[in-house]
Amino acid sequence: MTRLLAALFVVLAAPALNAEPISGYEFLDESTRAMQDDEFENPGMVAVDRGRELFNEQREDEIASCATCHGEDGVDLNTEAIAQYPVFNPNIGGLLTLQERINHCYEIKLDRFPLVSGHADLIALETFVRFTARGETVNVQTEGDMAPLIEQGKKLYETRFGQIDMSCSHCHVQHQGQMLRGQKLSQGQANGFPEYRLGKGRITSLHQRLTECFVSFRAEPFEPGSQEYKLIELYVMSRGNGLKIETPAVRF
Ligand code: HEC
Ligand code: HEC
Repeated sequence: MTRLLAALFVVLAAPALNAEPISGYEFLDESTRAMQDDEFENPGMVAVDRGRELFNEQREDEIASCATCHGEDGVDLNTEAIAQYPVFNPNIGGLLTLQERINHCYEIKLDRFPLVSGHADLIALETFVRFTARGETVNVQTEGDMAPLIEQGKKLYETRFGQIDMSCSHCHVQHQGQMLRGQKLSQGQANGFPEYRLGKGRITSLHQRLTECFVSFRAEPFEPGSQEYKLIELYVMSRGNGLKIETPAVRF
């Protein structure tokens, strides 16, 4: 295990245990930052536009669209409420991610067959909805019903998984700022999701990114939409309280 770790990390300096949340944006090079900041150059805007289209679209034989209740282009969406996701909603199954909220409206309010987690339309809708809250401060509730769930998420975050026995925390807390296989390890914040991945050439949901991390340290991933990923999402988002929403972020 020690040998494997030494091989993984190019530099093994003193661990940087940063308490302040830092966006992955701060770990990017100049040109990638510029690409993210420019709405014409940001390749994630394609998903935003697709999401906006789906949001406004009223299908044949249907009496409403998302826009019927939330305004054309989502002008009536509550962006402060969006910045609080995941939330605790006892009427909709307890812990509720933004993607689930959207899917709930899709199914219950529009009477459509719900989309599976990871469906391109669902990710596009989520990208558009979170884009409307771009610049809003991440503000996940941490008290009350949320407290024990955040604890569970933190536990998963610190659990060692897989053949090389690593946890999220190893890379994104202890080794942040260090190079791993040519990439600078960030805090693994989620304020830019769904985000555009230059290396993959596509928009990526948070749960898809989690699966990539699991695979990268050779552990068996959970399913997108699973309770485990929801708990990890909750913990990661709460850890990023105070950061600005950057959707669609651009990352390698
Ligand atoms: C018939 C009306 C209706 C339709 C159609 C509808 N919603 Fe909603 N939506 C609601 C209600 C009601 C809430 C809960 C508001 C609250 O809790 O204060 C909500 C909440 C939300 C939220 C949480 C943020 C907020 O403003 O509270 C999002 C995001 C959202 N809807 C997205 C969508 C999307 C995307 C669609 C289309 C797939 C859609 N909704 C269709 C009624 C609707
Ligand atoms: C072996 C090291 C490693 C482990 C362990 C690991 N990741 Fe990552 N993760 C990476 C790398 C490399 C990246 C891309 C560069 C960066 O942002 O750190 C990344 C990126 C991320 C991002 C995207 C950050 C952004 O700004 O876009 C999130 C979120 C994330 N990881 C969460 C997790 C979670 C949660 C776990 C535990 C399930 C985990 N990671 C475990 C290596 C790891």
